[in-house]
Amino acid sequence: MRTILAVVAAAVIAALGVTAYASTSARGLPAYTNGYATWHRVNARPFTRCGPPCAHSGVKNVYASKPKVGSRYPNGTVVVKTVGRTGDAAQRPSQIAVMRKLAGRWVYVEYVLSGSRYGVLAQGRFCQSCHMRARATDYVFTTK
Ligand code: HEC
Repeated sequence: MRTILAVVAAAVIAALGVTAYASTSARGLPAYTNGYATWHRVNARPFTRCGPPCAHSGVKNVYASKPKVGSRYPNGTVVVKTVGRTGDAAQRPSQIAVMRKLAGRWVYVEYVLSGSRYGVLAQGRFCQSCHMRARATDYVFTTK
């Protein structure tokens, strides 16, 4: 029993270490999202329309770290969707959904604000299953 506890404790410590290492930005978001509010904003104005299919209600903005090349975003592109009560970039969004293209595939993670820090709300296949519907536009729904 004691050995099992020790192994579990070691795994938890290792996981915490990895998390701390991965999120180098101060508020719990990964460093690759740093400065997103200064990136190209894909939508012309903050919008409240939702879907279809609807995933987030609120005032939203979508930012891309790199421009499309033809009809696709290049590898390394990070796309951030902010969801808040207002579209004001100075106000911390309550949710930040992130897509990051690595080796030709999008990796999905969504963060939620709790107090002054962001934590992971959901990720992976759940997100991908819906974004499949935007396949024609490189799995990105927002095109303007
Ligand atoms: C039920 C469908 C659905 C699910 C599930 C979903 N999304 Fe989306 N997502 C959308 C739609 C539709 C948009 C377009 C903007 C809007 O309506 O809010 C969008 C927009 C986005 C954007 C901005 C780029 C774009 O495609 O317009 C990001 C980033 C994003 N979602 C990430 C995520 C992540 C991360 C998850 C999982 C935690 C997720 N999404 C789950 C439907 C979904």
